[in-house]
This record gives sequence, structure tokens and C-alpha cells, in this order.
Amino acid sequence: MTEKTFNLKGLSFDKKDLGIITLDELGEKQICPGHVIFMSAKFNRPVLLMRAGDFVDPAFVKKYKDKGQKSFYILSIANQKNIDEFESLWVKLKIAALESERFAARNELLKYFANLYWYEDSVVCALDFYIATFNVFNRLADEIIVEVRETDTMLCERGMQMASLATVVALAIGYTDYEILSDIFHVTFLLDFGLVGEGYSYLISQACDKERLSPGDGITYLKNAKVSKKEFDFFHSHPVTGYQKVFRRCYGAFYNLELMKLISFHHEQHNGQGFPQRLNFWGLSDLEVVPLFIDYIVPFEEVIYQENSSGGLLKKYVDAIESGSKIDSLPIRRVYERLEYEMSKVLGEVVEDDIQNEEENNIEEESLDLIDKLGA
Ligand SMILES: [Fe+2]
Repeated sequence: MTEKTFNLKGLSFDKKDLGIITLDELGEKQICPGHVIFMSAKFNRPVLLMRAGDFVDPAFVKKYKDKGQKSFYILSIANQKNIDEFESLWVKLKIAALESERFAARNELLKYFANLYWYEDSVVCALDFYIATFNVFNRLADEIIVEVRETDTMLCERGMQMASLATVVALAIGYTDYEILSDIFHVTFLLDFGLVGEGYSYLISQACDKERLSPGDGITYLKNAKVSKKEFDFFHSHPVTGYQKVFRRCYGAFYNLELMKLISFHHEQHNGQGFPQRLNFWGLSDLEVVPLFIDYIVPFEEVIYQENSSGGLLKKYVDAIESGSKIDSLPIRRVYERLEYEMSKVLGEVVEDDIQNEEENNIEEESLDLIDKLGA
């Protein structure tokens, strides 16, 4: 007799594909490495209790432990070997004492990352990198993350994805200091903290995605939807209210408070057409642009993680920029171009260009030498 295949949220699996995770093991995780499933004996059907990539709420684990539950089934998604490798590479960067050691660690990590998430034919799940980066950098209290998650699981998971990707992009464009990378991780996760809590709605999340793809469209969308003034103000002011909330409640997660300010102007634009302060933002450093760049490329969508489904993920996000029409109204072009160059470089794809540039520089130097000699 063939075994029954279950379909659940787009996942297709047999019972033999499921492993066991004890509640003690689950309680030690911050991010769930697979889909946690309860098999209803009565109906012989699976119930999805926690998705891969979800934040493991300690209250969830406690609730089931108190009920006497020892374990659940798990459809494993993340690859522990990759998680361990990424964690050890981040730690190597963190403890590097000399600048030369830090750059060697930076190159090693970027190369490992680029082979998986830039090289499109790779076979990997994005979750490996998110879990490792979250494990190494996260300094937020559980209650902050639970609050984001309870507002919207998608908002929480997107925050984790963005935070991890922002950290590696900052590294790629030349920032190797662990504390700076940590601040980038946290400011990116908390970019939309102003939307968390009462006031968040489906319309607001739609406005966010429209604003992301085309600055100004989120505001127009809410006006056309004729939302109440309260709802409109909630969205319009979320950069400033978010910054105030983060300053008040997440102060301790930051090494330096400077980057935190970015939250208050993450929807401003070059030409003063952004919101809520209508500032003219030309003067951002590349580091400050990184979270804005990531916010631009990561969609507002629910992700059901599947094994080996994320090869070249960051490259796919970046390539989608080409079709975006408003890149020049945002200060992200420099980071975008630099990232493409650095990733190609670690993958050895720009060797030819380098040699050619070097040759051109040498020719230039030789010419200058000659002019010097002739002058003398
Ligand atoms: Fe926002």
C-alpha cells in the first residue's frame, strides 16, 4: 500500500519525510529550522503549528510542555552544516584582532555566501543564512520580536531576512567592524517598528509594498482607499514613531545610537518628495543606504521555506531592480553597483577586468615616467 501524501500550505510530503523534534530542542532555537507539525490521529491529517523561519516564542514551547507534550513532528528545511559554517565564519570575523585577519575573514565569508546566494545554480535554502546570522547578531529582547511577530508573522520574518541580508551587503561594500554590522542588523530589523502593534492592518501592509516598489504609491493607495485619518496618520508617521519607540525600548541592542536615527527618515527621498518630514536626502553614507537598499529589494510576502529553493536568492532580488522604475529617486544606486562588483570579485569573475585595469594603470604610470624623464 502506498503511503499517503499530505499537502499543507504548498508543501507536499509523506509521513516518512517527517522527523521528530523534542520541545527541549525546539526551546533552544531562536528561529525554527523546519515546519513543526502535529499529526492528528483522529483525522490522520497534519496541522502546521510553526513554520520554518518563524521566531520560536518561548511561551509557545512552555504552553505545550505544561500540557505534557514531549515532541512534535518536523519537516526539516534548514541545513545544519551550512548554519554551523556561517556561524563560525561570522565569529571568525568578530574575533579577528588584526585588520588583515578581518579582511581575510570577510573574504572567506563573502565567498561562501556568494557561492550559495549569488551563484544561481546553487542548491540551498535561504533559512540557513538567516538562522546563522540571527544567532550571531541578535541582541533584542524576546518580547520585542514576539511583538513584531504577533502583529504580523510576515513582518517579523521579512525583518529577519532583511537584517541578515543587510549585514552581508554592508560587509560586501567594505564594512568589517562587528559592532557596525550588528547595528546595521538591528536597525534593518526594526525599520518598520513604527507599524507594530495596534493600527496595523492588511491595507497598511499593502501600502508598504507599494511604497517599496514605487515611492509615493503607498501614500496614494491609502488615499484612494479612503482610509480614516487615524489610519493614514499611522502609516504616514511610522518612521518617526518607530524611531521614538526603538530609542525608548531597544536602546541596549545598539553599540552606537547614530544608525538608529535612520529609522526616522527611511521613507525620505532625494528630492524632498518622501515622508513624513519631506527632507532632501543627498547626504547619506553608503552604510546608511544599505538598510534602504534591502528594504527596496525584499518583497512584502509570506515565504513558505522549502528545501534547496533559494539558490542565488540575493542575486534574484538585485536583478529585479532592473525592472524597477524609480531607482534614481532613491539613494541606492551606488550600493547596488558596488555590491554587484564585489560579489563578482569574490566569485573570481572580475579577474580579467582587474588585470586589464592594472595594465592600463601600468601604461599610465609608464607614460608619466616617460614624461618626467623627457621633462628632466
Ligand atoms: Fe516603512
